[in-house]
Amino acid sequence: MSNLVILGAQWGDESKGKLTDVFAENADIVARYQGGDNAGHTIVLGDKTFILHLIPSGILRPETINVIGNGVVVNLETLFGEIDRLHAQGIAVSSENLKISDRAHLILPYHKTVEQWEQMGSGTKIGTTARGIGPTYADKMNRHAGVRIGDLLEFDNFRKKLDYNLDTKADALQLGGVDRHILLDTYRGYAARLAPYVTDTVAFMHEALAAEKRILFEGAQGTMLDIDFGTYPYVTSSNCTAGAVCTGLGIGPKAIAKVMGVSKAYVTRVGGGPFPTEMHPDLDEKIRDIGQEYGATTQRPRRCGWLDLVALRYAARINGFTAIAMTKLDVFDTLDELQVCVAYRYQGKERTTFPSSLQVLDECKPVYETLPGWQQPLTEARASEDIPQRTRDYVAYVEAYLNVPIPIISVGPDRAQIVTLDASHVNLR
Ligand code: IMP
Repeated sequence: MSNLVILGAQWGDESKGKLTDVFAENADIVARYQGGDNAGHTIVLGDKTFILHLIPSGILRPETINVIGNGVVVNLETLFGEIDRLHAQGIAVSSENLKISDRAHLILPYHKTVEQWEQMGSGTKIGTTARGIGPTYADKMNRHAGVRIGDLLEFDNFRKKLDYNLDTKADALQLGGVDRHILLDTYRGYAARLAPYVTDTVAFMHEALAAEKRILFEGAQGTMLDIDFGTYPYVTSSNCTAGAVCTGLGIGPKAIAKVMGVSKAYVTRVGGGPFPTEMHPDLDEKIRDIGQEYGATTQRPRRCGWLDLVALRYAARINGFTAIAMTKLDVFDTLDELQVCVAYRYQGKERTTFPSSLQVLDECKPVYETLPGWQQPLTEARASEDIPQRTRDYVAYVEAYLNVPIPIISVGPDRAQIVTLDASHVNLR
């Protein structure tokens, strides 16, 4: 058994989609367990570019079965849009290769309106993706309001829940854009189209485990956006950490063999919140430009910072990383010096634990170690021998600090631009 979780170690956008795509080659099943269409990744295959927000990335491989687990929140408009686009690009999607949990909650059009309404009334600008993610998870936890995929297949339940929601959310819905009749008609059509995909995914996953299928658990967002452990309230509304694999699919922790965190060689984030290692504006702009750091879902420019080992070790602990894949090392190719944050200075003292209070985090000043840059292009590197010593030293420094191996690095956007430094960590078998 060598089932693998791949998840973001930072604030999302670590290029985990590329890693997931590469590992999907050896997976029988790729399963998503949290988040919704706030995720986004772009996969380039030859002359075709695929953009996926909701469907697991195994969909691009004909033999792979893809699962959307109960922990995911599903926007059907996005789902069908993605299925249609994939069909148009020659990728077949059917009930054979896509299974969706009947327990997953639905993102409905009013959730976006509620999100807008809440944002208007709040002094905290979270800077969400505006996909209705937060209000959908809030409804799930509230229990009266949540609408599950299973309800859609029992349409009277759906109708009742819709009426309840339109009534209790009437204030927000003054903003407009939600019509009961149109919604009912649209979702009646959606219900028929969705039915073949709806699966008891708990039973499916356990049959797969019993048959020793190779399973890849595909994380969305990133550890520092986790609702419990992230920089609350500048987080998403789901648990994005390894524990969510169990609750989001209905499997036990012993079904997980390996947890690979994906971290950039630096840090980026979109949205608000304190960011101790944020770079000086000139360098921030340079890194954003070289690394093309713009949101895949929202196109917003990402804020860039030096690698924060305090935050990364926190992520390694929470998730129990067995390995880390470090991406975008090539973005540093032209820099003569690199900084890594090894501690925070707070009220005159150094600390190496990540605070829960954003006020404390805001006052934390980074303590940096300076390492030499390699000042040569990495983008053509394909084998371990092609990697310059100074790049290895940078990677080794991070490994030693975290006590977690970094067997894989990525040196460019293409599938091929991945270098395995230690093959013993990267097999799915
Ligand atoms: P929400 O998930 O739309 O509620 O947004 C909450 C926060 O999470 C915002 O800062 C978003 O930019 C961020 N976020 C959500 N999904 C992703 C992702 O897939 N990558 C990076 N940031 C994300």
